[in-house]
This record gives sequence, C-alpha cells and structure tokens, in this order.
Amino acid sequence: MALWGARFAQKADKRLNDFNSSIAVDRVMYAQDIEGSIAHVTMLMKQQIVPGEDGELIIRTLEEIKEDIESGKLSICPEAEDIHMFLEEELTKRCREKGKENAGKRLHTARSRNDQVALDGRMYAMEQCRRVIGLLKEFAVTLCDKADEHTETIMPGYTHLQRAQPITFAHHLMAYTEMLLRDIERLEDSIKRCNRLPLGSGALATTTYPIDREYVAELLGFDGVCQNSLDGVSDRDFAMEMAAALSILMVHLSRLSEEVILWSSWEFKFIELQDAFATGSSIMPQKKNPDVCELVRGKSGRVFGNLQTLLTMMKGLPLSYNKDMQEDKEALFDSFATVETCLNTLRPMLSTCIVKKENMRQAAARGFINATDCADYLTKRGIPFREAYGIVGRLVHTSIEKGKVLETLTLEEYQEASSLFEEDIYQAIALETCVKNRKVTGGPAPETVKKHIKTARERLGSH
Ligand code: ARG
Repeated sequence: MALWGARFAQKADKRLNDFNSSIAVDRVMYAQDIEGSIAHVTMLMKQQIVPGEDGELIIRTLEEIKEDIESGKLSICPEAEDIHMFLEEELTKRCREKGKENAGKRLHTARSRNDQVALDGRMYAMEQCRRVIGLLKEFAVTLCDKADEHTETIMPGYTHLQRAQPITFAHHLMAYTEMLLRDIERLEDSIKRCNRLPLGSGALATTTYPIDREYVAELLGFDGVCQNSLDGVSDRDFAMEMAAALSILMVHLSRLSEEVILWSSWEFKFIELQDAFATGSSIMPQKKNPDVCELVRGKSGRVFGNLQTLLTMMKGLPLSYNKDMQEDKEALFDSFATVETCLNTLRPMLSTCIVKKENMRQAAARGFINATDCADYLTKRGIPFREAYGIVGRLVHTSIEKGKVLETLTLEEYQEASSLFEEDIYQAIALETCVKNRKVTGGPAPETVKKHIKTARERLGSH
C-alpha cells in the first residue's frame, strides 16, 4: 500500500500507479534525496524535534542505503511511486529490521514531498550544470588548441555563404570559443539563482515546528533560503533557465556541426574527418558521412523541445505545487544528457580532424575576397570609399568576363580603371596582407588571434 494509503478505502488501481509513478526518471536523484534527508534530520535533532538516537540511526541507515545502491546490492524498485517514497520506505524497513521502526517513521517530520522534490531537483540540476560547464571548458580548450595551429591558415570568410573576405581558420574557430564562453556564463548565472534552499517550505505553507532553514542551507552549501514558501515549492525558473541556456548552447553546437558538414563535403574539402569519427553507407561504397554532426544538429531539436515543454507546462499553473510539475525532470534531465553526449562526441571528432590548408587557401584565392582591400588601396590614396568601391566593382566585372581574378590582372588593366594603381597593388591585395592588416581587436590578423587565444584560455581558467 502507498504511504498515503490510510485515507483511502480502495487499493490504488495499477493503471493509476503506473501513470502516477515518476521513479523511472527521478531515480537518478537518489544521492541528492539522501543528502537532503540527512541534512533535514540533522537539523531536526539540533532543534530537538527528533530524538538524537533516532536521528543517528536514520543517518546511518541512509548512508548504508546509499552505499548499497552504489554497489548494486540494492536496486531501486521500478514499481515505487517515486524516489522519495522508495527511499523512505526502504529506510523504515531497515529501521524495523533493526527493531527501531519508529525512527524511520520520524524522518518526514516538518517536510513535504513538495519541498523535498524542489530541493532534490535543484541540487541535481546544479550538479548537472557544473558537469556541463566542465565539458564546455574542455571543448573550448580543444578549440583554442586547434586554433593555435592555424593562426596563419587562410580561408575565405563568408556572408550569405558567399566568399566575402579572407580570414584564418583560427579566427573562425575562436568565434565558437566566444559562444561557448557565453554558454558557460549563462549556466553559471542560472546556478546563482537556483542556489536557494526550498526545503522548509513544507507542502506550501511551511510548518509549525521550530525548524532552522538557514542551518539546513548551510549544511547543504546553499547560498540562502527561498523567502516565500509558495514560491519555494512552485518555482521551476531554474529548470526553464537552464533549459534555455542549454538550448542556446545547442544552437552553437548545431551551427558548428553544420559548418563541419559543409567543410567535409567534396564541394568544400576544407577538412577531413578521421575514419573513427565518420560513418559509411550501407549501399554506396564511396561514402564517408559526418553523422556525428548531423546527430548534434538533429538533437538540438529535442533540447529546444524540452524548453518548450517546461514553458508550456508552467504557464497556466495556479500556486503552488501541481502534479504537472512532475514532468519537469524528464525534460530538463534529457537536455543535460543530450548536451553531454553531444559535447563528448563532437570534441574528439574536431580535435582529430585533418585540416586541408591548401584547399582553404585555394578557395580563398578565387572568390575576389580581396576586393574590399583593393578598394581600400584607392581610398588610402585619397578617393572617397564609395567611388573606389565603384571602380573595383567594374574591375571585378571585367575580370570575370576575362576569366581572371584580381591577382592576375595586369598593371595596365588596373591603370585603365584608375591611374592611382601602381605596382604595389599586388602586395596590397595579397591574402596574407589582407589578413595581417586586420589587426584591430577582434580581427583575424595572426598576432591578434594569438592574443585572443591567450586571453580566452585565461578566461577559461578563471571560470
Ligand atoms: N514525484 C513528485 C514530483 O516529481 C514528487 C512530489 C509529489 N507531491 C505530491 N503532492 N504528490 O513532483
């Protein structure tokens, strides 16, 4: 019979039990539930709400249960209503076996599952956040390492997926490092607001027992306690915030994946994936597919979906706790798990990929991506930029007609367009010059990017 069965005349229907149960999802929070219960009972003893002897036994038994779950000696019963009920029942059973049934039955004094689940959810979510932050740092360091090798590797930068201006592969990779640094900040920020103890809110209106919430907060390492009990049990902002931060992170991973898919295609051939991180086709013998990237791109959909689930689930709920909120965990935990597998696979795939420098260089040489620099050359000789832009536009037009590029036009052809062109135009439009001269903060010049990599590494170390 369920712990709450006393009020009911009928036994619960199996279909109700199956539908109502959340153990399949919340079982992962067993460690947080035990830690929370130990802190709760420690406080109950201090406040003399529970006798010391019983409290000690509860703590010892909970520690045993934790050990037994971790060693595989105790398996979490899939039929239980949820992890809170399972652990309380197991505790009471073990206390009974020790001839002290009453001890186990005292644990839930001055507590409700509503504040208990809010506590466990927050603790688990913060732990997961910290894990993802760790993985993000590793990922960003991998990007910095790769970038370090390619500060001189010229490639075309794109707008509208049309070749635009020359950059380096390092500069491109470091754009993603910036995104990941923001992702880290967003997750850290969500932890700050999550880090308030909801326990003590009770079912919704606290309790008449003289509990010490601040003491429990201290024991569990929270920054403070939730200041309103209704809010304490019904706030799921932390879940929505983290799901949102994880969604934005997946946007970044998905964009990076899309680029790797393009770069590893035969049309681009900018990089080649190691065989160990590519897949083949069941029918086409020549295929080498970037499945990892496609899966990351695809899985971003479920992470966005989880955010939508949480927002929709919460938006019409009256205060305070409603069972709808049981759904929060599946959505949030899935986002964490998905992000984790994506980061864990994408990182080694990227760090081992082969960069085809020559192909990048060739693509950069053929797309008139130095046209802006050519116009700047004239501007620096006194012509207004708009006019220089027009002259170079005509030069591009005639070059295309002649099957030439800016580098292969003769000086005469240049001078027909403007008498200001001199022999040094070739030096001015050399791709290396174009990149080297873009040395303002944020630019692709090798020296600038090297500095950026260094400061990015420092920022990563400081988080
Ligand atoms: N399994 C429940 C959840 O995840 C625990 C809270 C149950 N509270 C209640 N009043 N039924 O939300």
